[in-house]
Amino acid sequence: MNSIRIQGRIALQGKVRIQGSKNASLPVLAATLLTRGCSCIRNCPRISDVHSMVSLLKSLGCSVHWQEKGLAVDSSQVRRGEMPQEAVTGMRSSLCLLGALLGRCREVVMEHPGGCVIGERPIDLHLSALRQMGVVFTEREGRLMAKASGLHGARICLPFPSVGATENIILAGVMADGDTIIEGAACEPEVISLCQYLCCCGAFIEGEGSSRLVIHGGKKLCGTDFTIPADRIVAGTYLFGCIGAGGCVLLEQAPGRDMTAVLRAAEQMGGRIYSSQEGIYVQAPARPVPMRLVTEPYPGFPTDLQSVALAVETLGCGCSRIEEEIFENRFRIVGELEKMGAEIRQENAKSVLVRGVEQLHGTHVEAKELRGGAALVVAGLMAEGETVVSGCPYIYRGYENICRDFRELGARVVSV
Ligand code: EPZ
Repeated sequence: MNSIRIQGRIALQGKVRIQGSKNASLPVLAATLLTRGCSCIRNCPRISDVHSMVSLLKSLGCSVHWQEKGLAVDSSQVRRGEMPQEAVTGMRSSLCLLGALLGRCREVVMEHPGGCVIGERPIDLHLSALRQMGVVFTEREGRLMAKASGLHGARICLPFPSVGATENIILAGVMADGDTIIEGAACEPEVISLCQYLCCCGAFIEGEGSSRLVIHGGKKLCGTDFTIPADRIVAGTYLFGCIGAGGCVLLEQAPGRDMTAVLRAAEQMGGRIYSSQEGIYVQAPARPVPMRLVTEPYPGFPTDLQSVALAVETLGCGCSRIEEEIFENRFRIVGELEKMGAEIRQENAKSVLVRGVEQLHGTHVEAKELRGGAALVVAGLMAEGETVVSGCPYIYRGYENICRDFRELGARVVSV
């Protein structure tokens, strides 16, 4: 099933349960390598990136099984730190295994986790931080070799709150001798859930949720039961889907407390938002109000929802400016939206101007990466007629079943 077919201009209604978070699951699954025993990771989304991570864990000697209550991981038999090429190439999220394997095996061999279409995605911050902890890196034929015979704590100042680099330092730091202090750490909810999982396993980490983390290393970690939080990016995707397509929906289990900037943007677009224990109620405006949107590290507006907000503003009642401050090439859907009748002008590498039109028309468009693909599905919900989005394996990396979820909200969406 490579494509998704959408019949547009149907106002959404009803409720949908939000899946577990991809970006919380991946580092927690990597962290199971640091424990000697079994963990049960509940609410793990059944998405291709998690399936790839499961294959990686198995290739390293873990026993992993999907159970009714969650993903059971037994890492007592982990024997080596070499990851098979086919499992790593092109999957950036395997990078968080670097810190975990250094913590567990003290050495790692992996393909260089290169960039992707949204940007070059270097790993300089990861490497410089781990070097300060005693890790020695060499590169041979595209493979990254890391050795950490004397993994020790360090005081690390991150010039940019890199999510992945923060996670790798935490994963190595819990097993290092002594304390590791991170100044300028990422504060994303996914970093907090990693810290929470590790503390449940017996680690001692202070400052979670702040930009200063203190990881007290050298603790023995045991497996535990842990529940992955709901995916704030999936919730935001469906929230903006309603703002663009119209209607009124309930996003069950949506983590409203982690979505302040997202809810603020949705209200600026004219949405009526009500957040409760149950989830987030969204009432769409007659037409999206134009706005200026700037992506920032958490708690700012997340870059992963920039594309879907851009798609919604193509039907805005005026001109909007979208500024992408995190990745250098995250406007790949502009050409595809223009095929649907959108009027967008790219001012420079970091910003686009969107002039709202009265109507988008359905056509064939192509997903080129995960979040842009989801944004094209939302554009299809907003367009007159039928839209076919190809390249959908990108979307299945992060969304358990975007077609089922939008059908729950009354949309006519099928995978073909
Ligand atoms: C994580 O990627 C997420 N991925 C991304 O979600 C998310 O967009 C990003 O954080 C920002 O929130 C996962 O958690 C698996 P970064 P990550 O390190 O860790 C530059 C999705 O769609 N940088 O915070 O790779 C980098 O190039 C994905 O779910 C360096 O320059 O993000 C980028 O411009 C997409 N050197 C910026 O920092 C480094 O060593 C943010 O990167 C590391 C990063």
